[in-house]
Formats: sequence, C-alpha cells, structure tokens
Amino acid sequence: MSQITEIARDVFKITTFISEFNIQFNQFLVRDEEPLLYHTGMKGLFPTVKEAVAKLIDPTTIRWIGFSHFEADECGALREWQRIAPDATAICSFVSKMVSVDDVVGERPARALEDGEEFATGKCRFKFLQTPHVPHAWDAGHLFEENSGTLLCSDLFHQNGEVEAVTSSDIVSRFKEVLIEYQQGPFANYLPYTTKTEQILGRLASLKPKTIASMHGSTYVGDGESAIYDLLEAMRDVLGGSG
Ligand SMILES: [Fe+2]
Ligand SMILES: [Fe+2]
Repeated sequence: MSQITEIARDVFKITTFISEFNIQFNQFLVRDEEPLLYHTGMKGLFPTVKEAVAKLIDPTTIRWIGFSHFEADECGALREWQRIAPDATAICSFVSKMVSVDDVVGERPARALEDGEEFATGKCRFKFLQTPHVPHAWDAGHLFEENSGTLLCSDLFHQNGEVEAVTSSDIVSRFKEVLIEYQQGPFANYLPYTTKTEQILGRLASLKPKTIASMHGSTYVGDGESAIYDLLEAMRDVLGGSG
C-alpha cells in the first residue's frame, strides 16, 4: 500500500516502503491536461502504484512517463503502463531512448528530449537537463517544473528508512549516511564523483529549486540551491574529488 502526498500544486508523491531493504521508492504524478508520471518503479510495484494513481486520475489517461536513467526503479514498469494507457509515451534523454529504452522496455518509441528543451503538460512547464553520470549512468537527465520550482532529482538526496513525506529540515546528512553505508558493501560507488559532477550540480543549483523531489526518502522544501551545494560537499567528502 502506497502513501500519497501533494508536494506542490497538483504534483503528488506516491511512496512505497520496502522494509526488507529499508528503502522508500517514490513516484511523482503531475495531474495536468496531459498527466505525467515520473518514475514507474519496478515491475513488481506496478499494481500498488497503479492503485495509488487511480485515486488521483484515471490511470489509462497517463500521457507522459518520465525518468532520469535506464534502471528498474526508474522505468521498469514502462511497458505495463503503456499497455493500460494507450497514449503513454516515455520522455527521456536521447541516449536512454537509443541505447536501452526503445529496445528493452518500450511498448512504443520514446520521445527524446534535448538538453535545455522545454515542454508543457498543460499548466505545468518543464525543462530537461542532460546530466551524464549525475546521479549516475551515461543517459541520466533531470526534469525541472518551472512554475512550482520542483526538481525531480532521481537518486540525488537518497535517504534510507521510513522517513517523513516532506521536510524542511536538512536531508543532506541522511544522504551522506547512505553514501557512507553503501561504500562498505555491494552498493559501493553508487554515485560517481567525476570531473563533471561539480559543474552539473552547479547547473541544477542555478535553477534555485524550492522543492527537491528525490526518488528515495523525504521531499525537501526550502532553499534548494544551498541544499545542492551541501550535497556536492557531501559527495566530495565521501567519494573523493579525484574521480
Ligand atoms: Fe538510479
Ligand atoms: Fe533509484
């Protein structure tokens, strides 16, 4: 059973906590003329996410399915969604589309977004930023909703545990704990620190987000620019600046 929270006007967070792994998986539904689901979650989550979406809109009317990079929690249930929503089209980076999505999980071709491209779903206006290897993966990108200042930030700001839906308190220390914990086990080097990391995070910070919507953990409401610079420092501390 998933928990639903409105994190900005008509932007809903759908949270499912998986206790075996002490982790939350969040999807975000933008309720608009052309409804957008950001992250599908893994295939196994499809029934519960669909049930949650159905409390907000008719799930068959989903028009866009966005995600940061090709991974199961990002787009694993894309095909399941496209089978029930006849107009649902994936929107992702050119690399995601060409290298993986169309061949592996797409029921129909994805729409590739160019770096800096803007698009609207109705009243919500989005900007796409190509962010290779941030949070991770060659094909990574981010969507920013300009009206509400919401940054859909995928694995950045990842926090473990059954945490609150939304907070204005610091989440970077919890993010740093995850990085440190993961460095000790099979998830080591979860996020790379590359020669481009500082520049890319600086670009995200310059958007001055008011709401930071992470895939794992609480959504942060506050000074997003400062939070992103704090996150950069945490990554540099734990992962090192030498790549
Ligand atoms: Fe990821
Ligand atoms: Fe993730």
